[in-house]
Amino acid sequence: MAAGKIVIAFDLYGTLLSTESIARELAKLYGEQEAKTLAALWRQYQLEYTWRINCMGQYRPFSDITHSALKHALAEHALEISDRDADELMKAYDRLHVFPEVSAALGLLKDRSNQADVYVFSNGTDAMVANSIKSSPDLSPHAALFKSLVTVEDVKAYKPDMRVYRHLVKQVGKENSEDDVWVVSANPFDITGARAAGLKAAFIDRPGKGWIDHLDETRRPTVVALGVEEAVKAILSAANRS
Ligand code: LAC
Repeated sequence: MAAGKIVIAFDLYGTLLSTESIARELAKLYGEQEAKTLAALWRQYQLEYTWRINCMGQYRPFSDITHSALKHALAEHALEISDRDADELMKAYDRLHVFPEVSAALGLLKDRSNQADVYVFSNGTDAMVANSIKSSPDLSPHAALFKSLVTVEDVKAYKPDMRVYRHLVKQVGKENSEDDVWVVSANPFDITGARAAGLKAAFIDRPGKGWIDHLDETRRPTVVALGVEEAVKAILSAANRS
């Protein structure tokens, strides 16, 4: 890899792919009204479970975690689900839509392989992430852009465990040049994790509230952008300056 070439590692769920599109699948089973809340609750428990299992020093694949979190979200609303319907909902993870600006953002990176290597960096399992990209109607046309899909499966820990960022740095060939690696994520815990590991980080602030995470005042995002396209432009211009 040429000296100074940057790496851009995109978080997948919640950053490129919108897990809110799951609400449409949930609506088929539980009605429009309940679906939005259930989708948000499902995502909330999915993340909470990853942090809890990290603290326990244990690991279960993200597909299992996601399945269990669905049951928790439904139980909170006194709802049940058949195994068949749960499997169908899990399959919806293979057909998620991208956020509106993502296609344009990835388009900007298409002919920049001399400047940036592009990766996906996700909590998902290898199979889940590969399927999500292959089957997402609007992400699949960009699949060739990604040099590789880096997941936490080999590390058996979830973001923001420091080991997963070290794994990313190693996988992209940037050991001792962490500063060349950008993590792009709409998940504040991922941003703080990446910064703590010495990486650069672009926070995708779709609600436009700015950086309001106060866990670590010394480690703010390198860039705060309203969408992925704005983030990519900021990263490329920062790279041109250095
Ligand atoms: C991911 C989680 C954070 O894709 O959604 O890594």
